Amino acid sequence: MCGIISYCGKRPAIPILIDGLKRLEYRGYDSAGLSTVDNNKMVTIKTVGKVAKLENKTAGIQNSSTFGIAHTRWATHGKPSEINAHPQSDCTNKISVVHNGIIENYLELREELQKKGHRFKSQTDTEVVAHLIEDNYEDDLEVAILKTVERLVGTFGLAIIHSDFDHRVFIVKRGSPIIIGIGDDEYFAASDSNALAPYTHKMIYLSDDEFAVLNSNKYYIKNMKNQILEKKIEILEEDDYQVDKKGFEHYMLKEIFEQPESIKNAFRGRIIINEGVSKLGGLEPVVDRLKDIKKMIIISCGTSYHAGLVGRYIFESLTELDIEIELASEFRYRRLKLDEDVAVLAISQSGETADTLAAIKEAKRKGALLLGIVNAVGTSIAQITDAGVYNHAGPEIGVASTKIYTSQLVILTLMALFIGRYQSISFSEGNEILCALKKLPDQVKDILKNDNQIKKIASKYSGYNDFLYIGRLYNYPTAMEGALKLKEISYIHAEGYPAGEMKHGPISLIDENFPTIAIVPIDSTYDKMINNVHEIKARNGKILSITNEKAEKIKKLSDDFICVPQTIPILQPILNIIPLQLFAYYVAREKGCDIDKPRNLAKSVTVE
Ligand code: AGP
Ligand code: GLU
Repeated sequence: MCGIISYCGKRPAIPILIDGLKRLEYRGYDSAGLSTVDNNKMVTIKTVGKVAKLENKTAGIQNSSTFGIAHTRWATHGKPSEINAHPQSDCTNKISVVHNGIIENYLELREELQKKGHRFKSQTDTEVVAHLIEDNYEDDLEVAILKTVERLVGTFGLAIIHSDFDHRVFIVKRGSPIIIGIGDDEYFAASDSNALAPYTHKMIYLSDDEFAVLNSNKYYIKNMKNQILEKKIEILEEDDYQVDKKGFEHYMLKEIFEQPESIKNAFRGRIIINEGVSKLGGLEPVVDRLKDIKKMIIISCGTSYHAGLVGRYIFESLTELDIEIELASEFRYRRLKLDEDVAVLAISQSGETADTLAAIKEAKRKGALLLGIVNAVGTSIAQITDAGVYNHAGPEIGVASTKIYTSQLVILTLMALFIGRYQSISFSEGNEILCALKKLPDQVKDILKNDNQIKKIASKYSGYNDFLYIGRLYNYPTAMEGALKLKEISYIHAEGYPAGEMKHGPISLIDENFPTIAIVPIDSTYDKMINNVHEIKARNGKILSITNEKAEKIKKLSDDFICVPQTIPILQPILNIIPLQLFAYYVAREKGCDIDKPRNLAKSVTVE
């Protein structure tokens, strides 16, 4: 969470820092701040609220400094306030620090430093970093920073400046994302490459426990033993950036409408129809090991977890593997034997989710084969896994994930087919799946044409305070994901449930004020779903169903219905979620919510 940007070059720093913060704001947005050095004095400007407020505050200021650091915060320690906003400083106000992550031993360090006479101003964990550098500083600032980092427990991406050191920005990474951007005689550091899109496409991805020093005409990277490292410069493609709204009112709506393209990008160049097989270059290096795998454990969080839940059914139907799925945040509490014949598959849009990263590190320790499905190129999860597949869906900015979910489902299908074709899946079964996959982009376009109908239905239902979402088999995760979308952006209480479980408890909630959204495709679960809908109707519950054109029974039974095209059952969740994304979007819009930046959330969850 939180966005960091730093600049060191020849141009005035403040406009570049503000512009970078605006691009990073989706990562955290409760307060913002920046520091530069002017006439050898630290200048720090901070504000509660969004980056626009910080921009106003800096508007009249004369400051031609050409280096600085900036931050948009997602508070973990201490309320959002001006004092707690970053940058944080030491007693002398010579050192400024911005931080992404959590310093777990901050209380112990704070007490130790207070005993030595350090005066603390904020409630943040971050402030200890500034004081500890001050305390460790004798005559070499780099050594002081390295000594400080040695004492820190937790996760951090740090950017540091000191008013006695002109044109030097110090960057440290452990556990939280921070990358270096290389320009012409100017250098940047940022939480993700989007912030640097207008400035450079050349990036260096730091690994954990690496330390970078940026100057206006050079940079170097060291390890924690103070040894210089040679790091590869990666060149990002134009497609990796695309961050404007393209005329849509919100990023979320733009991303929903991008799905025909993002789905196509997920399978483009990866299917061989006349062999009924998928071609995944990212898995080739481990193909021999994959053939010996007996069990796969999928780990992920939030929407990516819901994709994993669908993935479990897909893998079970296309491969011989034993499949388990676990929330990444619970994974490390499990007592699991992860031998060589177990693969652990992490699914993550951002590639930086701290829970998923911690889980994958745990799996690495135990020797499993590590696989990933990641959207953001070069990120920590992409780096740590042995092999994987990128979504190639472009950046997702709306905090509520939409296009990445459907893209993840496509890739899970391709992965399962990749493995399944080495096992018992036949050519014709593979061929049937790939033909169905190819039709998806046009089928999604058909659903999006119904936008207006979905908007009207959303308006009709936007006054309710509670919703139940139900589905079975492949569409039980659809129910969970639909409910998550609604609660994230409209703040309406919504529960996603496997329909069969309803009678074991939640049905007691049903009355005329508690509508149910039932996902009822024509598949093996159809009749059972009809029974569940009857049970709800018998208790005066309203029903909005997501179904197929030919499903006459459920259409008759429902108060409202939205039809989506029919595909093979394993792919049906890709189509069924789209009206639910639009439904959540239009309900939130009707309620006037901040759709792209919902309260209390952040796009990239880099704390555990
Ligand atoms: C999705 O709408 C959420 N914002 C959230 O649940 C998200 O999916 C989760 O935090 C996992 O993120 P990741 O895919 O980047 O790992
Ligand atoms: N833990 C720090 C704080 O609460 C940093 C949070 C962030 O990553 O924005 O201030």
